[in-house]
Amino acid sequence: MAKSKTTFSCTACGSVFTKWSGKCDGCGEWNTIVEDTPISSGPSSATLGSSKGKSITLTDLRHEETPPPRTLSGVNELDRVLGGGLVPASAILVGGDPGIGKSTLLLQAAAEFARKGLKTIYVSGEEASAQVRMRAQRLQLTDAPVQLAAETNLRDILTTLDQEKPQLAIIDSIQTMWSDTVGSAPGSVSQVRAAAHELTSFAKRKNMAIVIVGHVTKEGQIAGPRVVEHMVDTVLYFEGERGHQFRVLRAVKNRFGAADEIGVFEMTGRGLSQVTNPSALFLAERGEPAPGSVVFAGIEGTRPVLVELQALVAPSPHAQPRRAVVGWDSSRLAMILAVLEARCGIPFTGLDVYLNVAGGMKISEPAADLAVAAALISAREDSAIPAKTAIFGEISLSGALRPVSQTENRLKEASKLGFTSAIAPVGGKAAKVEGMAQNQFSDLAQFVGDIFGA
Ligand code: TYD
Ligand code: MG
Repeated sequence: MAKSKTTFSCTACGSVFTKWSGKCDGCGEWNTIVEDTPISSGPSSATLGSSKGKSITLTDLRHEETPPPRTLSGVNELDRVLGGGLVPASAILVGGDPGIGKSTLLLQAAAEFARKGLKTIYVSGEEASAQVRMRAQRLQLTDAPVQLAAETNLRDILTTLDQEKPQLAIIDSIQTMWSDTVGSAPGSVSQVRAAAHELTSFAKRKNMAIVIVGHVTKEGQIAGPRVVEHMVDTVLYFEGERGHQFRVLRAVKNRFGAADEIGVFEMTGRGLSQVTNPSALFLAERGEPAPGSVVFAGIEGTRPVLVELQALVAPSPHAQPRRAVVGWDSSRLAMILAVLEARCGIPFTGLDVYLNVAGGMKISEPAADLAVAAALISAREDSAIPAKTAIFGEISLSGALRPVSQTENRLKEASKLGFTSAIAPVGGKAAKVEGMAQNQFSDLAQFVGDIFGA
């Protein structure tokens, strides 16, 4: 038998190393590497299994029955993120910070799917069944035929699932599950990996859809959801700021639909309610035009979303000025600052720069470049962007503005929300939307000169 050696795994990304180190080479995180007992190595390659490994030609599949249809929960924001409903026998990971609302979301989803006729079981490893029932009462879901189980031993869970034969099982959370074939504590990289592997392969074998909840962990001994991302069909993250009531469910991987799709929810006293018009919500707190505030017309998945970007630029008391970003990429901010300095002669040396995406949204589109640049200059020059103006466009290192996709959708959404003009790059597909004046520029310096007279 092969000798099992001690290995070291990163609790953030699951990378495996033979030596301990302070920083993970896989994801760059510090203090996330812990000692790990390996899952026992299988039979050596010399011994082959019996006749279990079968293959089938692609053309034979033609005669198979058409796959069962997807089930819609009726909650649009959830169904869209899933790629158009729940695919039978699929494995879905829902990650998110502790306390963000994952259990609430999934209990509500379980109830909706159960009401649509799916046999659904909700396995909680964190709360007793009575506590889950209390939550269900508060969410007014007690009439839904969802089965509850409070269990953490994987063997017992698999037995329950085998007996009950549900069509949808929800496992909350993977960090509390433990398999007795693995020596380490629940929540360790090898336990989380083993439990997720057993659960997903069991679900596929039994033709059951499975949702696995994973807490995002900052550091330490507990493995995060990234460790199991590669084992599942769909990876969703539930994001939001604790202080805000908005929550965004974002698909980062989906074998059955578009990644990058988002669903927006609002946390209320009675659980999560869907937000069908997120732009209106994200802009609700916006007042009169102010320096540093800009509205970006973005696209999230298949849907246009308008968000407010806020910048603050102030003289820095430090030798190394601060660059702080919330909701956007910090290296992208560094790039925009460099382009502004090199191509437009607007330096930010000696100035602290803060950038915030309002409402707790996270933006990853390069199309936000121009809006970010506009917010930065507006804050620096203390001069507001004209009212009712939406901005979008990508900036290249040369300072040229590049057209972005779905111009028409962006303009339409802006027009729907009462905006009357847009600042956009020249070129791209010509799009005309009634009531929207377009101010087009081919490079950043031209934009700065025209809008700020700099
Ligand atoms: P929860 O779903 O338990 O979070 P997670 O499973 O991601 O750890 O959500 C907990 C938070 O949600 C808690 O701070 C209270 C809030 N909440 C409401 O505001 N309204 C509600 O109806 C419920 C059930 C929770
Ligand atoms: Mg929970």
